[in-house]
Amino acid sequence: LKDMKRLQHGDMKLGPLRFTRRHTVLIDVDTFNSQRKFLPQKGRDLWHSDFVKMPCSQSANQKSRWDVISKKLKSLASKKTVSVKDVEEAIIKYNPKYKDQWSFDALHTFNKNIPDTENYFKTLFPKIAALALKLPDFVNKAIPLLRKGQSATITLSQVQISCLLANAFFCTFPHRNTSNPTAEYSGYPTINFNSLFGNWSERKREKLRAIMHYFKEVTDESTRPKGLVTFHRECLSYTDMPTWESCKENLSKLHITSEGQIELEGKGMLQVDFANSLIGGGVLGSGLLQEEILFLINPELIVARLFTEKLEDNECLIITGSQQFSSYSGFGDSFEWAGPYEDQSERDQWARRKTQILAIDAMNFRHSMDQYKMRHINRELNKAYCGFKGYDGHEKPDIATGKWGCGAFNGDPQLKALIQLMAAAKAKRGLAFFTFGDEYLKQSLQHIYDLMFAEGITVGTLYKLLCEFSSAKHRDSHVDLFDFIKKNIRNSKSHL
Ligand code: APR
Repeated sequence: LKDMKRLQHGDMKLGPLRFTRRHTVLIDVDTFNSQRKFLPQKGRDLWHSDFVKMPCSQSANQKSRWDVISKKLKSLASKKTVSVKDVEEAIIKYNPKYKDQWSFDALHTFNKNIPDTENYFKTLFPKIAALALKLPDFVNKAIPLLRKGQSATITLSQVQISCLLANAFFCTFPHRNTSNPTAEYSGYPTINFNSLFGNWSERKREKLRAIMHYFKEVTDESTRPKGLVTFHRECLSYTDMPTWESCKENLSKLHITSEGQIELEGKGMLQVDFANSLIGGGVLGSGLLQEEILFLINPELIVARLFTEKLEDNECLIITGSQQFSSYSGFGDSFEWAGPYEDQSERDQWARRKTQILAIDAMNFRHSMDQYKMRHINRELNKAYCGFKGYDGHEKPDIATGKWGCGAFNGDPQLKALIQLMAAAKAKRGLAFFTFGDEYLKQSLQHIYDLMFAEGITVGTLYKLLCEFSSAKHRDSHVDLFDFIKKNIRNSKSHL
């Protein structure tokens, strides 16, 4: 881990905020420059298919709904204590269609099961309601949708994010509650929290502990976060996709460890989120794998679900400046919220934390053999490269990653490690690889890397080896990638 620290760019600069047609800044920059305060930028409320449709929109059909919502929220916010029943009743009041569909049993059971010392929720609910009510003041400029096929950026203040998430908690976002494939937002993740409140399980208990802790922090004047967060969707054009077989780059530096985790030991690096194409995956449902855990300990990431359309094969999302609020232990069923986390990450000149999270979704291989087809290897190479190459003059710290796509998505860790190594080399960035306790992978990857490095293998040569391996694997499914490379590496440079 000491070497890992050396890999980190302690003085990582994130580059200037560029105000371009494609970068929407939701805070008032002049005010920020002169007084170091963030005020929402004045703009127009746009009820339009290119923007997030807001619950407080003044559009004809929405105004009366916001009247009902704000009346309900005001009534909750005015009380000292609010029960789960009151929360449920309010949400259903302005979402009557879902009266018999939405269940709140997880929230009820959670409230009953949690020890008294930790049960501050009755007094927290009014504060979340008060925060949600601030929406028309805090976010009064339309939020553009980060749509497929376009690179674009949004910067919000952490306070704006907390207000949007308070609205998600109270399920106020319109047009977002149907999974009908022809519905307007069917290509977007869900954002209203109703799915978090139903289907009680131990997992839900731990998720709710993390989420409630976030709201406790952001509704308290003394702990309210004061920075900015930037969300950038990067779309790699077909002309920018590398011709992999002719890449002349040598492999980048690689550090492999079986200890530690991306989000802790990888602080200061570009941290890879093993994402779903619908950003955040099952964070508001029952999922509790790497991505969902990342989103629970950094709940500001959840707001990306409001405006990020499903990622295409040549796209990724990079989030700069989000804050970690919670600690945790375990994974999946053993996940536990382990208390508050005090994020000490430095901030850049735009008050963003020096944290970059890269969401890239691997392919989900229901049939394991599919991943060895060259068109799938190409897809994964371009996906990783899209995220690793950086954007718009951003500093490029080393990358913290691991068994991307090798859990729920059934990928081969050897193949995925080489794919990421090639993409990192092409992007000229070092790689820290966390095998997450997999000692065998650590040793075998180190061995094959040392061998390839000693032979001076380039990205192009490795690509050609992968092409040969792909054919060999389809002739004999038992061929092991690292064994194949060991056997063929000497010939590769002369014959390929
Ligand atoms: N740091 C390093 N490695 C980790 C970490 C971590 N914090 N957490 C998990 N891993 C390792 C584990 O070995 C895990 O099996 O990465 C492997 C892959 O993790 P998954 O989360 O299963 O990733 P993937 O196969 O890409 O599945 C993505 O899962 O979380 C959902 O929304 C996500 O639908 C998407 C799917």
